[in-house]
Amino acid sequence: MITFVDAAEKSRRTQGVIPLHGEAGFAGMRKAGGLTAAALDMLVDEVKPGVTTARLDRLAFDFARDHGALPATLFYKGYRYSICTSINHVVCHGMPEDRALREGDIVNIDLTLIVDGWYGDSSRMYPVGEISRKAERLIEVTYESLEAGIRAALPGKHTGDIGAAIQHKAEGAMMSVVRDFVGHGVGQLFHDEPNIMHFGKPGTGVPLKPGMIFTIEPMINLGRPDVKILSDGWTAVTRDRTLSAQAEHSIGITETGVEIFTLSPKGLFNPLASRKSS
Ligand code: MF3
Ligand code: CO
Ligand code: CO
Repeated sequence: MITFVDAAEKSRRTQGVIPLHGEAGFAGMRKAGGLTAAALDMLVDEVKPGVTTARLDRLAFDFARDHGALPATLFYKGYRYSICTSINHVVCHGMPEDRALREGDIVNIDLTLIVDGWYGDSSRMYPVGEISRKAERLIEVTYESLEAGIRAALPGKHTGDIGAAIQHKAEGAMMSVVRDFVGHGVGQLFHDEPNIMHFGKPGTGVPLKPGMIFTIEPMINLGRPDVKILSDGWTAVTRDRTLSAQAEHSIGITETGVEIFTLSPKGLFNPLASRKSS
């Protein structure tokens, strides 16, 4: 059974209970999501051949500190960085390190900033210099999948409609959807109810209601969907070592549709779209 509670009354995750947020929550998420998106914008010019992901991590940390925010991943379950940097066949939770990025790499940067207690969670793909046509295509399809998922996120629909829309886009392009990681409720908690699967059947799952706030963050692979976790306990990679991409927004369900909290202030969310227009 699913129950709903007024988010103002709720402090930590309770299995099967989905918080419903009011105007204060939406305002908090606008601010936190906006700052996260500004930080991801700032990183666009910093991602280039020769730069280490450790440097990107430092830039994200400094940005957070300078804006009165805290990176949610820092010391989260033993994680020790401000961002996740997932390169090429890394699906998610790649850790910043002192190895330099190389021309042709594709890297997902995932950042969650806490502002006044609200968590803005977003990630984007960053091409490192010139990338291959197939990498470009993977990134395009990943963004299209996220967009399709967001378009399906309407009051009265179900979480399964979001998953089905994403799966349809990805599999229609002969790519695959990772099963092992899901989107999640977000707000005054980093990971809350509901889980948002990036595959599924229309009309199934949890009904979407105004006031629900969650992420959609599909991971799309060029090859098979299977992942494994490396011995560091964090880094998830594709089992077949094919390329993987991800994009993430934090969104809120309104009376009539959806509000995206992590839109890029500079219009840089999809790097390939901005390349074409420049
Ligand atoms: N930001 C990730 C998400 O989208 C979570 C990262 S948790 C970490 O849910 F510990 F790996 F950083
Ligand atoms: Co994230
Ligand atoms: Co997330």
